[in-house]
Amino acid sequence: MSSRKPVTLHRLREMRANGEKIAVLTCYDAAFARLLDDAGIDALLVGDSLGMVLQGHPSTLGVSVNDMAYHTACVVRGNRTAWVIADMPFGSYQESTEVALRHAVQLLQAGAHMVKLEGGGWTAPIVRSLVERGIPVCAHLGFTPQSVNALGHRVQGRDEAAAGVLRKHAEELAAAGASLLVLEMVPAGFARDLTQHLSIPTIGIGAGAGCSGQVLVLHDMLGVTRGDPFRFVRNFMDGSASIEVAVRRYVTDVKSGLFPDDKLHSF
Ligand code: KIV
Repeated sequence: MSSRKPVTLHRLREMRANGEKIAVLTCYDAAFARLLDDAGIDALLVGDSLGMVLQGHPSTLGVSVNDMAYHTACVVRGNRTAWVIADMPFGSYQESTEVALRHAVQLLQAGAHMVKLEGGGWTAPIVRSLVERGIPVCAHLGFTPQSVNALGHRVQGRDEAAAGVLRKHAEELAAAGASLLVLEMVPAGFARDLTQHLSIPTIGIGAGAGCSGQVLVLHDMLGVTRGDPFRFVRNFMDGSASIEVAVRRYVTDVKSGLFPDDKLHSF
């Protein structure tokens, strides 16, 4: 059983300031929450990737706020010390700041410590409104899965102009009060520069080793997901005797900078 103190927002900021990498995995249920927490994961992301992973949908678009609240409550019952982030699903924050607030409240009442929402500068007023009301927010830029129909499954920010737009959005979201930023499928050099430039921690997925921390979808890093894995995924079950050993290796490799490898897992 874990003997560490609960991870707080203050602790995540301190880790960034000390250069200690933040290890995050997605989690959707109590059994895995207990195992991941015991293995030393800093934060659990109740991702709307559960739409694909658990529900068998082709994308995250079919996930509801009630689905997210249900899985958040399951994770919270298994967790003891990790920071818990819950995704705001597609359609739960686009309409207005009032609608976003109502749904964020539902996720916090289910036990989340923070909500995550996808998108650039247009989300800054929503982020500000939630933060002013005491709700910590994680922003998400780069490839944003809820926009898969608009973006395609492509690396974002490859050329100078696109990187400039992403950088501006990141600054706007940090200024609006976002306290974490997920960067998904962006060039490693861009993510490294942005991480040094911003005062908030960045959590990368396919964004190279220069981020303040890393996140992967649990079922991808355990080799459960069928089909060709994304380039940025490593199967930590390879050479591990148990799921617990695999998760401990993930935590150790993120913290020591062994994962991700900029040549193998980055763009
Ligand atoms: O839903 C999710 O799992 C995510 C990660 C890919 C960052 O948002």
